[in-house]
Amino acid sequence: MCGIIGYIGDADAAGVLLEGLKRLEYRGYDSAGMAVLGRGGLDVRRRVGVLRHLEDEVRRAPLAGTAGIGHTRWATHGQPSEENAHPHRSGDVVVVHNGIIENYLDLKRRLQGEGFAFASETDAEVIAHLLARAMRDGRSLPQAFQAVVGELQGSYAIAGLCEREPDVLVAARSGCPLVAGHGGEASFLASDVTPLLAHTRRVQFLEDGDVAVVTRRGVTVTDADGRPVDRDTVAVDWTTETAEKGGYPHFMLKEIHEQPQAILDTLRGRTVVDDAGRVSFPDVTITPDEFRAAGQIWIVACGTSWHAGLVGKYLFEELLHKPVHVDIGSEFRYRKSMVRKGDIFLALSQSGETADTLDAAREARRLGARVLSVVNVVGSTMARESDGVLYTRCGLEISVASTKAFTGQLVALHLLALHIGRVHGILKERAIREWLDQLRQLPGHVEDVIKRDGELLAVAKRFYQKNNFLYLGRWINYPIALEGALKLKEISYIHAEGYAAGEMKHGPIALVDEDVPVVVLAPQDRLYRKTVSNLMEVKTRKAPVIAFTSEGELDLEDVADCVFRIPDAVPPLLAPVPLTVALQLLAYHIGVLRGIDVDRPRNLAKSVTVE
Ligand code: F6R
Repeated sequence: MCGIIGYIGDADAAGVLLEGLKRLEYRGYDSAGMAVLGRGGLDVRRRVGVLRHLEDEVRRAPLAGTAGIGHTRWATHGQPSEENAHPHRSGDVVVVHNGIIENYLDLKRRLQGEGFAFASETDAEVIAHLLARAMRDGRSLPQAFQAVVGELQGSYAIAGLCEREPDVLVAARSGCPLVAGHGGEASFLASDVTPLLAHTRRVQFLEDGDVAVVTRRGVTVTDADGRPVDRDTVAVDWTTETAEKGGYPHFMLKEIHEQPQAILDTLRGRTVVDDAGRVSFPDVTITPDEFRAAGQIWIVACGTSWHAGLVGKYLFEELLHKPVHVDIGSEFRYRKSMVRKGDIFLALSQSGETADTLDAAREARRLGARVLSVVNVVGSTMARESDGVLYTRCGLEISVASTKAFTGQLVALHLLALHIGRVHGILKERAIREWLDQLRQLPGHVEDVIKRDGELLAVAKRFYQKNNFLYLGRWINYPIALEGALKLKEISYIHAEGYAAGEMKHGPIALVDEDVPVVVLAPQDRLYRKTVSNLMEVKTRKAPVIAFTSEGELDLEDVADCVFRIPDAVPPLLAPVPLTVALQLLAYHIGVLRGIDVDRPRNLAKSVTVE
């Protein structure tokens, strides 16, 4: 997701930028860099890895100047490396960027055709070259910047600086956060307010479409056509810790709320809107022939990612009519492997470092499978060791309990299913286009769930003191029952189990009594009536029932103790996404009500790099 910062004033810019980047490091630590403008011109420093490496470099050879921009990177396009680190430079212009420029390949080809040489694999570098090109005809930095912003598609927060105009910084925002502030004889830009708090508490939250010209005297905001825009100056009284969490009490809640954006980013740039409704994956180097030749499809993962894999099985079987094997990393490793040469092996992992999944993927590769990883962390071991990688673009996930990475994986699996379906000629172009339209509506459906969080808090208040929960789901929502139960046990320490609803009568129903709340997932799908029958079975045994259903279904209020509804426009194969978000919020509230540190639950680590 990256963090950006800008400063123009009378103080030592490098010091202000470094302090600010420390506050933003949670947004990415693949590399860090800064550009400072002093009497000697622009001085650009970049270092791979954590911010300390840049700090050591600045201490070794200080940068002199009172204006500058800085960046902390969470890689999306291109491995973590010095060339791919920001700021990117073109002539006397430098820029830092957070977001994804969807049309960067088109822009890059055009710029290369005009003789611009690219030094990185990033999408961001095009912005530097575009700006340098736009200033060639004598336009000022703000005028040129405005023209450049008009050429960009995708999401961005950008800050830029030019040697020829040392008294001004430019910035723009579309889909990525950007805050401006002014205090004394200095002005500031940053991805969130935390770096500003040491200097000023009066800030302007820029909005999508805003372009800002920042000088020592203040910040002027216009729209993309240069018309003045009035952005209120707000007084913030947040502590630094609250500000890092974007005002949310916990990273987990922040990350739950980031899901509409994470889904959008995972979809962005993947779907080429042509008549064929093509889904493009530049990083998936597995060829159509290899997909066609594959005998079997395997999905291997751990924990929450394994639940995403189980959803993938239902999805692939439904859309592609192909059997899929799903396994837990630690089980796969020690079973007699049935992987055959040419099989497709999907490794799912947020971190890309989970030892069991990593070893399973290595074993599959050794046996001749083509390994495709679906990972969130760019440049992670799994991504590097795979034959192809499909990145979820969910941004840094800090909370130990995985939330946005899971829904990102579900979206990535949908895209992959469309891709494979197309390659096999199973899915027709029209069906793919319609499916992509449905996917694009998902962020709105998730917003809808998040807006009704108050209903989930009310449910949590009613049941948070219970010691056992059951989660039931059928078909594609059976893995969501597993995920809902896992989330609850992780962050509330309540014993919770997920079951396939039809399995209850084969044993688990013996656990049910008036003290065991049962969460039933019953969205509108072809198994709705059957799921409701399972709901009745537990209700008859006096269990309090919390039903998650669709808006259109009418008859649950009479039988369930609480009913939460997802929009009925959500098609059955996509229901796992909004349902999961609702279950995440329920678990979150229960954990908080029980006084648990939900971001750091006991005994757990974010990345499990040991067997
Ligand atoms: C649960 C959770 C874990 C991870 C698991 C795999 O909330 O976060 O179950 O899903 O440790 O991690 P990754 O996806 O990084 O391989």
